[in-house]
Amino acid sequence: DHLGAADSVVAWHRHEGVVRLTVNRPKALNALNEEVIEALETALDALERDAELRGVLISGAGDKAFVAGADITRMRELTAPEARAFAGRAQTVLKRLERLPVPVVALVNGFCLGGGCELALACDWAVAGDNAVFGQPEVQLGIIPGFGGTQRLPRRVGPAMALELVTTGRKIDAAEALRIGLVNQVMPQAELDTYAETLGDELRASAPGAVGTAKRALYDGMEQPLDSALALETGLFALCFAGDEQAEGMAAFVEKRPARF
Ligand code: CAA
Repeated sequence: DHLGAADSVVAWHRHEGVVRLTVNRPKALNALNEEVIEALETALDALERDAELRGVLISGAGDKAFVAGADITRMRELTAPEARAFAGRAQTVLKRLERLPVPVVALVNGFCLGGGCELALACDWAVAGDNAVFGQPEVQLGIIPGFGGTQRLPRRVGPAMALELVTTGRKIDAAEALRIGLVNQVMPQAELDTYAETLGDELRASAPGAVGTAKRALYDGMEQPLDSALALETGLFALCFAGDEQAEGMAAFVEKRPARF
C-alpha cells in the first residue's frame, strides 16, 4: 500500500482506496518548491488513473506546519517570466487535485500560509488542528498570492473577508478560520488522524460514481448562472438512474441491509 517512497518530498500511503499525501520538507516547514510540485504531478498522474480511489487526504510532515507557503528562497531568484511559469504549473496541479472525482480534504496540522493556504483552498474542504495558523502573507513579501488564492479565497469566505486577509497579510488562528468558513471543523491536533480514519470509512461506504457526479455538479454549477446550473443538476441527477449504483442503493434501503458499492 506504500506507493511513494517515505523520504519523497510528497510521501504517500494508500489504504483501501483512500490515499494520504504528506508534503514532506519539514525543515523548510513543507514549503512548496518545484520538486514538491513535480512530486504532486507524479502523484496526480497515478491518482487520476486509480479506478478504485475513494478519497485523498493531504497534510504536512511534522507537527509544526501543514505548508508554510511557496518556497521563498526559490522565489527570490525568479524573473517575471519564470514566476509566471512557476505559478502556472502550481495552478494546474491544484486544479487537477480539485477536480479528482473523489473528495480531497486538507488536514491542516500547523502553519497554513501563502501557497499552503492555496493548497488547502484547492481541497474540497479543510479541517484543522487547534494550533493551525492561516494567512495569505504575500503582500508582506511584495507579491500577491499566485497559486489561486485571490480567486478561491473569496469563493470560500466571501470577498470582504478575502480582501481583508489578502491586503493586510494578517494571520488568523484556527478558531477564526472556523468562524469565517475557511475550515469545516477544528479539533485537537492529535485527533486529525482519527478524523482521517472515520472520514476514510465514510468515503469507502458511499457510492463512488454518485460522489464523483456530486462533485461535478457542485464545481461546474458554481461557475454558471443558477438556471443553467439547475439544468446541469437535473441532467446529472437523471444520469444516476442510468447506472448500477442507484439500483443497489435503493434495493439495500428497502431490504434493510448495507449497500455494496
Ligand atoms: N519558504 C522557504 N522556507 C521557509 C518558508 C517558506 N515559505 N517558511 C519557513 N521556511 C523555513 C525557514 O526559512 C526556516 O529555515 P532555516 O531553519 O533554514 O532558517 C525553517 O523553515 C523554519 O522556519 P522559522 O525558523 O521561520 O520558524 P518560525 O517558527 O520562527 O516561524 C513562520 C514560522 C511564521 C511560518 C515563518 O517561517 C514564516 O513566516 N514563513 C514564511 C511564511 C510566508 O510568508 N508564506 C508565504 C510565502 S509566499 C507564497 O506562498 C506565494 C504564493 O502564493 C505562491
